[in-house]
Amino acid sequence: MTQRETPTETFEFLNKPSQNALNHDIGKGRGVFISTYGCQMNVNDSERMYSLLEMSNFTPVSTPEEASLIIINSCSIREKAVHKVYSEVGTYRPLKQKKPELLIGVGGCVGQQEKDKLMKNHPLIDFVFGTDAIDELPQTIQQALGRSRGDSKIVNAQFHHREPYHVDTLVRNPGVATFVNITKGCDNFCSFCVVPFTRGREKSRPVSHVLNDIHLLTKRGVKEVTLLGQNVNSYEGDCGTDFADLLKKVAVETDLQRIRFTTSHPKDFNQKLMTVMADHTDKICEYIHLPFQSGNSRILELMNRGYSREEYLDKIKMIKETLPNVVLSSDIIVGFPGETESEFQQTIDMVEEVGYETIFAFKYSPRPNTKAAKLTEQVDEAIKTERLNRLFDRHEAMAFEMVKKYEGQTLEVLVEKVETGGLKLSGRSRQNKLVFFEGPESLLGQMVPVKIIRAMPAVFRGEIVVPS
Ligand code: SAH
Ligand code: SF4
Ligand code: F3S
Repeated sequence: MTQRETPTETFEFLNKPSQNALNHDIGKGRGVFISTYGCQMNVNDSERMYSLLEMSNFTPVSTPEEASLIIINSCSIREKAVHKVYSEVGTYRPLKQKKPELLIGVGGCVGQQEKDKLMKNHPLIDFVFGTDAIDELPQTIQQALGRSRGDSKIVNAQFHHREPYHVDTLVRNPGVATFVNITKGCDNFCSFCVVPFTRGREKSRPVSHVLNDIHLLTKRGVKEVTLLGQNVNSYEGDCGTDFADLLKKVAVETDLQRIRFTTSHPKDFNQKLMTVMADHTDKICEYIHLPFQSGNSRILELMNRGYSREEYLDKIKMIKETLPNVVLSSDIIVGFPGETESEFQQTIDMVEEVGYETIFAFKYSPRPNTKAAKLTEQVDEAIKTERLNRLFDRHEAMAFEMVKKYEGQTLEVLVEKVETGGLKLSGRSRQNKLVFFEGPESLLGQMVPVKIIRAMPAVFRGEIVVPS
């Protein structure tokens, strides 16, 4: 084992790496490969990293073999998060042996939360950086490059609690539909969730920054933007602007053709927002992802979600009254500590009663530092698996029936992609359905009417309606 691989190495914690003078040529002749896990925030963050590293003359490459710098942008939301990082790093061992100058860094939510463990336990990792340290990534890499054998490893994972959330959206090729962050962090502390620990306190971007980004994106050909945050409904912009105000401004003041947002938290979802959606159906899509997590009020309370089953159903009623053709989806957790069979049954009932066209369901997974992980009545893994399968089976049967109504309907599809090999195009409808159909490449970025021939829960097949 070389000195570099000794697990007892010390770490250097960077407090203010931005004070180091940055050499903009650190990337010259070096390829960078980023491996991304987790949610859309991480996908956005990886884009940001690539953009920042390109400014330091790194070249993005598409395989780890071509890279001199590999970054794992990790996710910690469910089980085996650290293990997944270790096993990916392990696959790079032969590369590192062949190319000793190869740098491996870990960022994202595991990097933020498990920095010490990662540095102590994995000799191949050269640096770790947190979710607030992305803008300092070139400096962190410069430090790591300047480190010689036996020097301490680099950890840059402090939260910048006092600094405002002022960033520009950095995407290399935004395409026709892209994402814009409006908030970061989360203050809700749902008892099962690691995000408040990995992303820090909630902060909102000023309205003008969000609008400016969208103006720049529409100039680059973007037609659709999804406004992103862990809980977009708790957005607090400058001068008392709430999320409904922001959404209205985006609808009125930008040239976007379509607007989406995610994720909404039921406790903060209100009539004002629904009114804005109903007043701007020309732009704001009638699709709402409103995670209920559990259909039982006792479990919801233990989850610290801030609403009961009845309160959630009242919001659904208000939504359906204001926007009758709304399409709904939800996240669901099964097997939360102490969940009984009859409490789980209420979750299934909720899926049927509300009529979600799409669900994202997960087995509860205990996460470090969270309150729920300390609850003693953890549900058996086999029971969780059985409940999850039962939920999916029930929902699938229902979803097949629900989407049948689209067959024969003409939906407006924004063409996002030309599939390789053929005239196949794909894009999403306003209801967030992925639709495949034949057509010429020239339609990329256009809004086209497509008649649905076959509707399955996850994908639709259709044909372009040619005006007669
Ligand atoms: N901010 C969003 C959720 C972000 S995490 C919201 O509040 O809705 C995405 C989903 O992962 C959650 O909605 C939840 O269903 C799931 N999830 C989060 N922590 C989990 C855990 N410990 N075990 C299983 N699923 C979890
Ligand atoms: Fe996690 Fe709850 Fe925050 Fe969503 S609202 S990120 S589930 S703590
Ligand atoms: Fe995962 Fe972090 Fe997103 S834990 S889901 S990458 S906020």
